[in-house]
Amino acid sequence: MMIERHLRVSFFYVVTFLGFNTMLMKIRLLVLALLMMQYVCAIPPIALRSPDGQFQLLFSINEQQQPTMQLQRGSQVVLHPSTLGLDISDMGGSILTDSTTRYRILSQQTDVHNSSWEPVWGEVKSIVNQYQSLLVRLEGITGNRTTQMEVEFRLFNDGMGFRYRLPAQQGLDYVIVQQERTRYALTGDHTAWWIPGDYDSNEYRTTTSKLSEVDARVLLSYTSITAKNFVHRYLIQQPLLLKTAEGLYISLHEAALVNYPAMNVQYDPSSQTLTSMLVPDALGNKAYWRTPTHTPWRTCIVSNMPTDLLASKTILNLNEPATTGDYSWIKPQKFVGVWWEMHVNKSTWERASGRHGANTANVKRYIDFAARHNIPSVLVEGWNTGWEDWYGKWKEDVFDFITPYPDFDLPELAKYAQIRGVKLVMHHETSGAVSSYERQMDTAYRLMKNYGYDAVKTGYVGRIIPRGEHHDGQWMVNHFNRVLQKTGSYRIMVDAHEPVRPTGLHRTFPHLMACESARGMEFNAWSEGNLPEHETILPFTRLMGGPMDFTPGIFQLDLSLGDSTRNAYRVRSTLAKQLALYVTIYSPFQMVPDLPEHYEKYPDAFKFIRDVAVDWTDSRYLEAEPGDYITVVRQAKGTGDWFLGAITDEQARKTTIKFDFLEPGTRYMAEMYVDAPDAHWEKNPQAYRVGSQVVTQKSVLNLTLAAGGGTAIRFRKL
Ligand code: NOJ
Ligand code: CA
Repeated sequence: MMIERHLRVSFFYVVTFLGFNTMLMKIRLLVLALLMMQYVCAIPPIALRSPDGQFQLLFSINEQQQPTMQLQRGSQVVLHPSTLGLDISDMGGSILTDSTTRYRILSQQTDVHNSSWEPVWGEVKSIVNQYQSLLVRLEGITGNRTTQMEVEFRLFNDGMGFRYRLPAQQGLDYVIVQQERTRYALTGDHTAWWIPGDYDSNEYRTTTSKLSEVDARVLLSYTSITAKNFVHRYLIQQPLLLKTAEGLYISLHEAALVNYPAMNVQYDPSSQTLTSMLVPDALGNKAYWRTPTHTPWRTCIVSNMPTDLLASKTILNLNEPATTGDYSWIKPQKFVGVWWEMHVNKSTWERASGRHGANTANVKRYIDFAARHNIPSVLVEGWNTGWEDWYGKWKEDVFDFITPYPDFDLPELAKYAQIRGVKLVMHHETSGAVSSYERQMDTAYRLMKNYGYDAVKTGYVGRIIPRGEHHDGQWMVNHFNRVLQKTGSYRIMVDAHEPVRPTGLHRTFPHLMACESARGMEFNAWSEGNLPEHETILPFTRLMGGPMDFTPGIFQLDLSLGDSTRNAYRVRSTLAKQLALYVTIYSPFQMVPDLPEHYEKYPDAFKFIRDVAVDWTDSRYLEAEPGDYITVVRQAKGTGDWFLGAITDEQARKTTIKFDFLEPGTRYMAEMYVDAPDAHWEKNPQAYRVGSQVVTQKSVLNLTLAAGGGTAIRFRKL
């Protein structure tokens, strides 16, 4: 279309020029030729291909002089021409770029990259980072102001990353990002796995529907005061999974979220377009920047095989490498905790109830349990004063992170744990008082180090105080990154609850072991809970950005625990599925959450939790369909054992697995944990069988998963 228009314009010039005297005509023809050259140069879009040639990206300036991208995979269009834009103003609010800005290309540069790197821990030992890149320098004219902007693309074999860059330029030291206008012009009304565009929480059940049927106007959890700003019917969060009618799976997210807010997207059913909606600050601004700088990468990972999405390393590859140094202090591990007993109301965080969980004797019981079963660490929540006053009060300085309750003997427990070779995991619940936490971080981390704590679980329950900021806005993104820098300097590993959703920053900060940022197991303990399909969706959505502290492994699945007022609470899963989750939900910091007495009732099943690894040389997703099932095998670092995890949703499932991932010529003992024939997540969840058989690379196994069930296997080399 664009080419046609330019040809029409050129033809008009030629006709108009006829009939003038020859000299003038020659000059004019020269001008015409130059003009046409300019058009010819501007007409063809800039094309970029992925290293394997499968993806093609076209970048152009459209008729409205807006930067535009199109993405194609083989013969399938992924994105129709989609306009890009970043609206910035100076600090006084004067517009520098907006929707009226007219852009032209100043220059372009392409490059190829092919390298590999080894993560400190991960799903695989080595990661290939291969892409073709394009950097386009643009000049934007708005009224009489000129602004330089750059767009940088990287095309991988499984999709695309791109970001906006604002180079250093005269008079532009500080700017405000008013909004980003990234658009994804989709090819249809795709099926979406979505949660609403809450600015403060990701803890929702996922809804599966056509994009046109999205209705995100739900009561949003923490933010009722500001909810009116963002309760838009079509406003949803990333990571977002889409499936086209032709069976193409598209994952939209971002990588390396630093000094910028998280990106939600809003659907427009009439144009079938998603538009970026950044999380604002209290004033409605999106980001405050100093040039030169850039946005996070916007990512679009695409395949007709859902397993390819799960195996993608593109988001990690788009993050900066960790600085070289000594990471021997970072230890992937499992941990138990004085935790679930509070969630199921057996004890409490606060002491005033008379049922304080974090008392010295009880913590010792957990330390003994961990030592007995070779589990490295014990998390203790409710150890510090303040829990009588923490929730919903919107108060500063509720916690000081150094004052234990009188019945929690900090020095004694540190000694007790050390003698037994067990580590304690610290808990810092900020209850949203973030400035208060920042003031106290050094003191708090020093205390940890004095008592031998190497890991902290942080928490940000409730609204952020003091300035009406949001969990997913720039201010909090910067806070989370400051915590990573500071904990790094103290050699402290981090498990963050209620942070902004992860974007692969654990490549840069390998001590960021896990985050919550989604609806974890705990929801089963005190709400309407999670559906059996929940864990078959998470790896396709939330986990695309990084590991989750989901807390799999509940054995006592009816959560009333003898209290009839709690009859509604249950985990919608079989016990065998709980084991399989240790393999299907990847995390290097995996909790073993149930009560010791529940595990000790089922020692044969508990053996799998003791044995399962948390750090891998290889992972292979054998089969998956979002919302239905996932089967993955992983090879443990160190031992070379393989582990299989297979889970299903509320539908029972039969499948056949080939063991061709095993080493040829080697015999393995397959230790299998399966649903009993009469197992069912609702009617008979704790019915399982443990068995073993010798297998080789040539073996084939028929698996039967109960409704809401799963299978876990350890392959031990013989
Ligand atoms: C919510 C966290 O997700 C949970 O793990 C923790 O126990 C409570 N907040 C209290 O901090
Ligand atoms: Ca399903």
